[in-house]
Amino acid sequence: MSGSVFDTAPGFDQPIAVLKHCHNKIRRQIATLQKLLAHLPEHGADTEAKQAAGAVRSYFNQAAQIHHADEEVDLLPMLRKTASGADSELLNQLAPQLANEHQIMEKLWLALDSQLAAIAAGSSTYLSSEEVKGFIDIYNTHMSTEETDIAPMASRLFSSAQLAAMGASMQQRRAIAPSSASSSAPAAPAIVNGQASVAHLRTDFKRASLSEADVLADPVAQFGRWFDEAQTAKVLEADATCLSTVSASGRPSSRILLLKDFDHRGFSWHTSYDSRKGEELAHNPFGSLLFFWSDLERQIRIEGRVEKMSEAENELNFDAQPLASRLHAIASHQSMPLTDRATLERRYAEIEASAGDKPARPADWGGYRLVPDRMEFWQGRGARFHDRIIYTLLHDGSWQRSRLQP
Ligand SMILES: Cc1cc2nc3c(=O)[nH]c(=O)nc-3n(C[C@H](O)[C@H](O)[C@H](O)COP(=O)(O)O)c2cc1C
Repeated sequence: MSGSVFDTAPGFDQPIAVLKHCHNKIRRQIATLQKLLAHLPEHGADTEAKQAAGAVRSYFNQAAQIHHADEEVDLLPMLRKTASGADSELLNQLAPQLANEHQIMEKLWLALDSQLAAIAAGSSTYLSSEEVKGFIDIYNTHMSTEETDIAPMASRLFSSAQLAAMGASMQQRRAIAPSSASSSAPAAPAIVNGQASVAHLRTDFKRASLSEADVLADPVAQFGRWFDEAQTAKVLEADATCLSTVSASGRPSSRILLLKDFDHRGFSWHTSYDSRKGEELAHNPFGSLLFFWSDLERQIRIEGRVEKMSEAENELNFDAQPLASRLHAIASHQSMPLTDRATLERRYAEIEASAGDKPARPADWGGYRLVPDRMEFWQGRGARFHDRIIYTLLHDGSWQRSRLQP
């Protein structure tokens, strides 16, 4: 018999086996990544390398994220509700570690993704062996913990009703019909002469309607799907978002920011805590983010409480910024008055001359994370029959979906 039994895709009536099947797919993508690393120095970004880079990107940008959501939204919360005694103790120790590893993996992936995008486009042959190794090491450790401790615990503790509920939720996340149980990623974009036809994709996304059955159960995963589609369709600055805050006196203000990250914890950006938005958030910690991707006739509204990131995260994120951005963050006291531009230019030059290549993070530079409790997806449609699907967070942590009139 050729191939492992795990290669046969299990159905969603066996959700733990589906997760293991996803691990096998991850291992295959990791093997491709390793082969690509060995292939590039000798062959450059040839057709084989481009295809491999494209395949790895497609998997980790879509299916892997859905897999993480399976664990964070279904598996671990359900285990938390069910486990007791020694199981619960082990879970309390492992669940934060696993969530933290997801974040690290997502960060490491972002760095690799841009390298792979350039390889897939044939414009670069650079792939950092250190970053590939870091990414693979953490995935292997992570999958091993899940397979050794978490999956056996879930198989032992979950009732058949829980397994059915988990399987149904995972299936809904993939928005697939019951019979196509093994698919873990949305359909690949149309390829014309080896390249995605952007105009064609845009037309497809615009034509798409938004029904309750189309959208994923988890709005953050749904955002991820639309965000991927916006990037695939090459929407200009898809990560630009309008943040609205409200002052202590009830006066709203809005500005554009670049979204830095999003995951189950929320949507984050970097800024100055001493800026006007920082002041407003200190008095009223609620905000609203708005994305508008006109090419796709899509709008996403995200509302919720805004939290500051931890000092440790801020240190890490600051160090990861390009040097010029770090120097600007030191030189500019955002939202404070400035007599003239020359003053800022002088201050920047002085800092550039004295700061070295590892300048210290100014105390006011940091990140915020909006923890969503309400998310609305708007899809423009003909004759003003626009679709609006709204998700509202309930007290038990689940999301309720409903449709609003356009
Ligand atoms: C495309 C674009 C991206 C921006 N990205 C950021 C950002 O990531 N962080 C930030 O603090 N300001 C960013 N800004 C500047 C903000 O819009 C705003 O001017 C600044 O944050 C000060 O806002 P405030 O005075 O209301 O606090 C961006 C502006 C544009 C047009």
